[in-house]
Amino acid sequence: MLALTPEEVVARLTLEEKASLTSGSSFWFTQGVARAGIPEVMLTDGPHGVRKQRGGADHVGLADSEPATCFPPAVALGSTFDPDLLERVGAALGEEAAAQGVGVLLGPGINIKRSPLCGRNFEYLSEDPVVSGVLGAALVRGLQSQGVGASLKHFAANNQEADRMRVSADVDERPLREIYLRGFQRVVTEAEPWTLMCSYNKINGTYASQNRWLLTDVLRDEWGFRGLVMSDWGAVDDRVAGVAAGLDLEMPSSEGRTDAEIVAAVRAGSLEEAVLDVAATRVVDLVQKTLRRDGHASSGSAHGAADGYDVDAHHALAREVAARSVVLLENDGILPLAPSTRVAAIGAFAAQPRYQGAGSSLINPTRLDSALDGLREHAAEGAVTYAAGFLLGEADSSSPTADELVREAVAVAAASEVAVLFIGLPAELESEGYDRADIELPVEQLALLDAVADANPRVVVVLSNGGVVRVGDVTKRSAAVVEAWLLGQAGGTAVADVLYGAVNPSGRLAETIPHRLQDSPAYLDFPGEHGHVRYGEGLFVGYRWYDARDVDVAHPFGHGLSYTTFEYSELSVTPDAEGLAVSVTVTNTGERDGREVVQVYTRLASSEVARPLRELKAFASVALAAGESRVFELRVARADLACWDIRSGAWVVEGGSYSVEVGASSRDIRVRATVPVAGDEVAVPLTLDSSLDEVMADPEAAEIVRHGLSRFLEDPDMVKLIGSAPVGRILGFPGTGVVPAEVGAQLERLNAERGLG
Ligand code: BGC
Repeated sequence: MLALTPEEVVARLTLEEKASLTSGSSFWFTQGVARAGIPEVMLTDGPHGVRKQRGGADHVGLADSEPATCFPPAVALGSTFDPDLLERVGAALGEEAAAQGVGVLLGPGINIKRSPLCGRNFEYLSEDPVVSGVLGAALVRGLQSQGVGASLKHFAANNQEADRMRVSADVDERPLREIYLRGFQRVVTEAEPWTLMCSYNKINGTYASQNRWLLTDVLRDEWGFRGLVMSDWGAVDDRVAGVAAGLDLEMPSSEGRTDAEIVAAVRAGSLEEAVLDVAATRVVDLVQKTLRRDGHASSGSAHGAADGYDVDAHHALAREVAARSVVLLENDGILPLAPSTRVAAIGAFAAQPRYQGAGSSLINPTRLDSALDGLREHAAEGAVTYAAGFLLGEADSSSPTADELVREAVAVAAASEVAVLFIGLPAELESEGYDRADIELPVEQLALLDAVADANPRVVVVLSNGGVVRVGDVTKRSAAVVEAWLLGQAGGTAVADVLYGAVNPSGRLAETIPHRLQDSPAYLDFPGEHGHVRYGEGLFVGYRWYDARDVDVAHPFGHGLSYTTFEYSELSVTPDAEGLAVSVTVTNTGERDGREVVQVYTRLASSEVARPLRELKAFASVALAAGESRVFELRVARADLACWDIRSGAWVVEGGSYSVEVGASSRDIRVRATVPVAGDEVAVPLTLDSSLDEVMADPEAAEIVRHGLSRFLEDPDMVKLIGSAPVGRILGFPGTGVVPAEVGAQLERLNAERGLG
């Protein structure tokens, strides 16, 4: 079948075959057509490991799956701000998927973290579309370099789990384009994912799976997507409407039920066969891509071999990436620890790591490091003692009581020089399928912290959580706070690498940590009601919100400490046709080698449209030896300066004097420059509905209306009063001496001359 083009293959199929080809054959396989030599393709979660289920596929991740490397979930990957590193992760995922006969790995997930409560935030990269887009593209590039397809998900505006299969995300077009779709646009145009998964929810009233505007007008016609669109598992409401809108593959199988609907619709003339042909062609194209990988069908089997890749090397990569993901939130100098320091490791998470979230992304890891293993690897013999402090999971009759556990923890803390306290969110608090109710740490863990800190104030807190938690009570009682997210199977040893300084922390927050849930942007509009969630905060998501409202936060977007310090100098910004060329000198002014994440923000204070105070436009994770100083060049693409113009339905760069701010976080700007940027021409037709001010700002149009409006134009106070009124209404007042429709016709002629007819 590789000798034929996808179109030629489809031309030989019957209507029934085409209908079945565009739906799954089971939970994890596409439908093949044996007669035409079209094999099935295996699709597997994703995103941070290969979850190839063994035997009975239950879909929600409870059934056993083949062992695979559990890389750090997206919440951690986002904190690296390092596309090169993520490309390596993607390639390793691709290698494992290929070894398991998987054709498409279902990820990455790049939905924006709109609310800290979203149960699936651990599966997403950031609250910022540039971070999500740049890092998402890197993962896709890496994965596909191994001949395994990515499935970019969940397209689009799937920012909560509550009511996720029905809710309508009601979003205005600017935030939809500028925040929620922008990352997808970048990944589609830069990395060309083989497939894209549409989300369960509706967008402005229409299911993503049958949203023509989304799946065809925007995705294909505007962005040029050439891959296949599959549904999320069970996201198809009306498959005929879906295929007509641009849905190519229904997943999982509907056991022939919707195939019959497709056949009937084509026979009845309500679905054009040519439209079905296009969907079938895309499925065949995907099959051919997977076949080309290694010359044989990637249909896999439910019981394939477990490896075929270097398990140790992948574990080492998981450890390297996990260490790079750790964000040092606070440090009074207690860290890094010396090997000889007597350390009390306290908290059940030290021995029973929480390293991934629940749901379809759940990986059966090839091995699992605990932090306790990691601490003992770095510390001198006998320097680390352990106390659980609290129980994870159900207590039984032999379990110690809560009081006993705290007493034991206090005793080991008092007998040590430093207490490292491992606290966080129990697994059942965050999962696919439901959201959190708050951002609180469990009260018994905070009480444990208090008791330990009373006994020994030299406390380092290590947090394990997939969504942000309120850290105020933690910060008050500790000398250092380490945000260790969910770090994958090697997270335990990776955290120890950071605590002992073998790795100098360089993770940065890809999402703001607010003081309180009530401060967060979507607080009043999450998760909606009666089938609708209104994105009332508009463009002001994440730091864009906190900055615009001048809300103090616990830790700003982009924040993260290091064991060294960096200085910024000599910023120069040069505008050119492609955008902005930014050059900045960064110096490592401390005594340790380290990594800094250089962040470039822009702002346009004089904008005519609503805008965040500052927006991230470029970033780079750079390594600098102690004392080293280097010049770094970053680019801000002109397209990234554009806003979506709702009048012209186009991306428009507004001209003006842009501030370019470079620094170590969204609230730690170190150097600034101001540069002029030439604006795009915005071609907006002027009509009788245009306001007086709009028409008078255009000399040729002003000439057309001047006669009828002369009486009003003489008086500046009057012009001020009626400046925002449509000219047609003013011309219709008694005594203007003109017929509004005639003036309208003249304006139309002007528009036509300008090509705006
Ligand atoms: C999830 C997807 C996942 C799919 C297959 C859905 O419930 O939303 O992210 O890829 O199941 O497991």
